Amino acid sequence: MVAYKSKVVERIRLPSREQRSRALEEAGYNAFNLSADNVFIDLLTDSGTGAMSDDQWAALLRGDESYAGSASFDRLESAVADVMGFEHVVPTHQGRGAENVLYGTLLSEGDVALNNTHFDTTRAHVSNQGADPVDCPVSGAHNPETDEPFKGNFSLEEARAVVDEVGPERVPLVILTITNNSAAGQPVSVANTRRVRAFADEIDATFVIDACRFAENAYFVTRREDEFADATVAEVAREQLGHADALVMSGKKDGLVNVGGFVATDDESLFERCKQRAILYEGFPTYGGMAGRDVAAMAVGLREAVEESYVEDRVEQVREFGAMLEEIGLPVYTPTSGHAVYIDAGATFPEIPPDEFPGQALVCELYREGGVRGVELGSFAFPETDRPELVRLAVPRRTYHREHFDHVVETAEAVLEKRDEVSGLEIVSNPAVPELRHFSAALEPL
Ligand code: F0G
Repeated sequence: MVAYKSKVVERIRLPSREQRSRALEEAGYNAFNLSADNVFIDLLTDSGTGAMSDDQWAALLRGDESYAGSASFDRLESAVADVMGFEHVVPTHQGRGAENVLYGTLLSEGDVALNNTHFDTTRAHVSNQGADPVDCPVSGAHNPETDEPFKGNFSLEEARAVVDEVGPERVPLVILTITNNSAAGQPVSVANTRRVRAFADEIDATFVIDACRFAENAYFVTRREDEFADATVAEVAREQLGHADALVMSGKKDGLVNVGGFVATDDESLFERCKQRAILYEGFPTYGGMAGRDVAAMAVGLREAVEESYVEDRVEQVREFGAMLEEIGLPVYTPTSGHAVYIDAGATFPEIPPDEFPGQALVCELYREGGVRGVELGSFAFPETDRPELVRLAVPRRTYHREHFDHVVETAEAVLEKRDEVSGLEIVSNPAVPELRHFSAALEPL
């Protein structure tokens, strides 16, 4: 059931078909290069793109900009303690700032980090320490069709195989990403979380949860894990997060803010080491790269994220959007995640081979047909992996409504109608850092 109404609005505009075709060409057929003014419905990411509540806007005005000992920091500390169950907080400018602070503290050259699936920035920060990021997804994670409840889980079998190979002393860090963004945003069960905790103890590793979408994950647990059928989202969140030694958080997702993040832990020594590194890279540990007002808004957002009415509306909206797309015959990854609908572009355009980027072709056609912006997460973004050719349509929080989704569905229908005419693309200019090519490479249709 809908949980809010609009108080402030932002005008949007659908450019003409000629304008869209020209914008696409000028962007080098890369949606990251489009000007947002030329985008009608922006589903590029759910990160930092949502709407804040009136309580959050009120908190902004009350933000305390003191360099040290800010009252806004006290509010964040108490929100993290109440919602997530951790005593110590090191604020950072966003999630990857938290990754730098925590993983820079925990990892050294030659180490191995295990994760259900490393998100791009996580992988980059682990590698930046000279360590090796190894993914341990469960076998169904990259299968768009099986209907299992927790395809985001961490595979203990995969993890044990790695530890047997390299030895436990080389694995000081085990990470659980909830929900598992790089595996179609699939949730992780509490039962799996407990097993990962026990495994980390066995090998004497630090257990970190990447909690970006912790509230959405908790909602899935209340619906899919029998033990928690009568629990609230807030109760599940505390139970699940409580198994970790530390959290990395991007406030831009379930912190319901446009910028911000933090590390949280109960470990005094880890807290001290993180604070030292945060001073170097982020800011003094009571503001950590954020304005005091942004810290204040995040403190409120964290509490709102576990309100049943909010999170139910949020996740069910994404589910309905997925169902609408499935109904018109688009091959949608199932089950739908909590923050995005992932489409199997390989199945949408079976004639386009992976090296001609069927996902990027779908991204371009959705823009050309209806000014809709999504993101490719297949062979263009992740060269040389055997993942499916997915396109992600991420849903900003509390931002779009039924009419917006109707437009996306009509757009997708128009793309499907002319699917035989759609061609693949080739890369015509590559950036210096090939791992980050999907952010800036230019392409051309074949
Ligand atoms: N971890 C996960 C699982 C993420 O999804 C992200 C960001 C980060 C860490 C980094 O956080 O952006 O605040 O620095 N995901 C965004 C996305 C960018 O579009 O999925 P950040």
